[in-house]
Amino acid sequence: MSDQIVLTGIKPTGTPHMGNYVGALKPLVEMAKTNKTFVFIADLHALNIIHDPNQIRQHTYEIAAILIALGLNLDNATLFRQSDIVQVSQLATMLMNITPKGLMNRAHSYKAAVDKNTAAGLDTDAGINMGLYTYPILMAADILLYDTDVVPVGADQKQHVEFARDIAGYFNHVYGETFKLPEPMIGADTGIIPGLDGRKMSKSYDNVIPLFAPESELKKKIMRIITDSKLPEEPKNPDESTIFQLYRHFACESEIADLRARFERGGMGYGDAKRILFEKINSVLSAPRTEYERLMANTAELDTVLASGAARARSVAEKTYERVHRAMLG
Ligand code: TYM
Repeated sequence: MSDQIVLTGIKPTGTPHMGNYVGALKPLVEMAKTNKTFVFIADLHALNIIHDPNQIRQHTYEIAAILIALGLNLDNATLFRQSDIVQVSQLATMLMNITPKGLMNRAHSYKAAVDKNTAAGLDTDAGINMGLYTYPILMAADILLYDTDVVPVGADQKQHVEFARDIAGYFNHVYGETFKLPEPMIGADTGIIPGLDGRKMSKSYDNVIPLFAPESELKKKIMRIITDSKLPEEPKNPDESTIFQLYRHFACESEIADLRARFERGGMGYGDAKRILFEKINSVLSAPRTEYERLMANTAELDTVLASGAARARSVAEKTYERVHRAMLG
């Protein structure tokens, strides 16, 4: 058992997809075999996008069911709902006071929203709420509250984890050693998983393959992956192919080498490559998908797991928050 504390969160803003699986869920389930792990459903972070509680509840169950179906070790891992731990909001309020506003101005997601407004000729802050603007502070609170060492995330979240580290550093500088400095952990080949159109797979681009889509939908989505117009006989570059980029996260070493060779040699059309990908993903995910469907029909079981996770998370959060409160307010 390693003594590193691992933590990650996932927002209940849509049904989890292959990008979430490769970037965060799969490494997390792996790390939870040997590490004390905190994994939470970031429902407070969903509020700047979704204003319908029923949708948030549905996606919360989906994420919990997916993690359990993927075999998350619930002895080592504490699985909980972010909003069940009130200390995270209190800590975010405390951290506001040592976080430079300029840091928030530099956040990628805020800058992207401003750029979009500017391009559309709108007021720079049109439609941007404070939940989006202060998002990185709440995320720092998530990470620092549990004395986290390592945060497995996709490359799109790297800046947020670095901000959490910066904020911890500012705090320690003013109030003395209070927080550990967390590190992002981004798999070498898992940085950004492309979606059906080749851009980053993302709920906001509507280009996702849901992780546990029923078999027929999975097949349909995979067949829709955009490719270039190379003919079957032509050699193809696997490293530029979304099909191969997905395949390598489901297949074993020898199968990956084999498909790579078939791409490079030529003689295989993209339709065949897609069928190979579908069959691989379907065989790897079919047992967990059945368990996922069982859990989604038994949400009371999920409520029990989330309640016991919240109790465990709270006992850690109370201690850290107490330390911060003492440092700041005596
Ligand atoms: P979220 O919900 O957008 O995504 C959850 C995780 O999936 C990763 N991911 C991807 N990885 C590779 N390729 C992709 N196409 C792809 N799309 C998503 C994300 O990097 C993430 O790891 N802000 C976070 C949630 C959060 C959090 C935290 C994470 C809240 N507090 C504290 C870590 C620690 C988010 O929006 O992730």
